[in-house]
Amino acid sequence: MAIKLFLLLILLSHVASSLAEGCHPQDKKALLQIKKELNNPTLLSSWKPHTDCCNSSWYGVNCLPSKRVYFLVIEIDNDLRSSFPPSIGNLPYLDSLLLYQLPNLTGAIPQSITKLTKLRSLTIRATGISGPIPNFIAKLKSLTYLDLSENHLSGTLPHNLYKLPNLEAIILQNNILTGPIPPSYGYIKNISSLFLSHNKLSGKLPMSLARLNSLVVDLSYNRFEGDASMFFGFAKQTETIDLSWNMLLFDMGRVELPKTLKLLDVSHNRVYGKLPDGAKNLQWLNVSYNRLCGEIPKGGNIQTFSTNLFSHNKCLCGSPLPSC
Ligand SMILES: *[C@@H]1O[C@H](CO)[C@@H](O)[C@H](O)[C@H]1NC(C)=O
Ligand SMILES: *[C@@H]1O[C@H](CO)[C@@H](O)[C@H](O)[C@H]1NC(C)=O
Ligand SMILES: *[C@@H]1O[C@H](CO)[C@@H](O)[C@H](O)[C@H]1NC(C)=O
Ligand SMILES: *[C@@H]1O[C@H](CO)[C@@H](O)[C@H](O)[C@H]1NC(C)=O
Repeated sequence: MAIKLFLLLILLSHVASSLAEGCHPQDKKALLQIKKELNNPTLLSSWKPHTDCCNSSWYGVNCLPSKRVYFLVIEIDNDLRSSFPPSIGNLPYLDSLLLYQLPNLTGAIPQSITKLTKLRSLTIRATGISGPIPNFIAKLKSLTYLDLSENHLSGTLPHNLYKLPNLEAIILQNNILTGPIPPSYGYIKNISSLFLSHNKLSGKLPMSLARLNSLVVDLSYNRFEGDASMFFGFAKQTETIDLSWNMLLFDMGRVELPKTLKLLDVSHNRVYGKLPDGAKNLQWLNVSYNRLCGEIPKGGNIQTFSTNLFSHNKCLCGSPLPSC
C-alpha cells in the first residue's frame, strides 16, 4: 500500500512537473532536433532538454499562451555551420521565422517548410543558402512577408506567388536571380513592397504590373529593358520608385508621377523625353545617365537639387542646370 502510494506520488509529481514545464512536447522535440541538425551551435546552448522551451530561457524562442512555439529567431553567428535544418517544418504553430546573418548556413530551402501553414513572416536573410526559390513557397498560405534577400539564391522568380492571398512584401534583393518578372506578379493583390534589386533579372516588364499599387518598387541593378511606365500613374500610392542601373527605354514625358511619390531614381537607363511636371514635388530624384531633354520643371525643391542628379542626359536644361 505504502509502495503504491509512493508510486502514485511519483506519478503525480511527474504530471505536475510536465504541466509546469509548459512547452509542448512535440515542439520541444522539434527544436532539439533542429539544434542537432545545426550541429549543436554554441548559440543554442540554452536549448537544454530538461528545461521549459517556453519560459524565455531558450534563445530565440517565443510561445503562444497555449505553449506552442510561434516565433523563432536564430541570428548573427558566423560559426554556425550546417545545411538548412529540415525539422523547422515540424513547428506547426510557427508564425514568424527569422534566420539572419548566418553566412555558413548553406544548402537549399527544404520542402519541409511547406508544413508551416500558419507562417506569416519568413525571413532568411544574409545566409549562405543557395539553389532556386522553390515554387512550393506558394504553399505557405498565410504568408504576408517574404524576405529572402542577401543569399546565394539563383534561378528564376517563382511564378506562383500570386497564389498567396495575403502577401504584402516580396524582398529578394542581392541574390543571383535570373529571367523576367512573371506576368502573374501583377495579380498579387496587396503588395506594398517589391524589392528585386541587385540580381540578374532581365527582359521586358509585363504590362500586368500596372495593376500593382505598392509603396516601394525597387528593381535597380538588374538587366530589365523596355517600358517601365506601368509603375507610374497619378492615382497610385507609390512613394519610392528605384529603376536605376537597368536598360529601360521609355518616354518619361508621357508618365504621370504618382501624387504620393517622394523618391525617384531612374539613373543609368535609356529614358528619353522630358521630365514630367510632377517631378518638382519630389523630395529627391536621380535621372542622371539617360537621354532626357527639355526644361526642368520649376517649383518645389527641384531647383535646389545637385546638378549631378541631372547629369549625362541629352539636352536637359533650366535651373539647377544652365538655362535653356
Ligand atoms: C525557466 O526555466 C529555468 C530552467 O528550468 C528556470 O531556472 C527558470 O527559473 C525558469 N524561468 C521562469 C521565468 O520560469
Ligand atoms: C563563415 O563564413 C564567413 C563569411 O563567409 C567566413 O569568412 C568564415 O570562414 C566562415 N566560418 C567558418 C567556420 O566556416
Ligand atoms: C491589404 O493590406 C492591408 C495593410 O497593408 C490590410 O489591412 C488589408 O487587410 C490587406 N487586404 C487583403 C485583401 O489582404
Ligand atoms: C545618381 O545616379 C548615378 C548613376 O546611377 C550615380 O552615379 C550617382 O551617384 C547618383 N547620385 C546620387 C547623389 O546618389
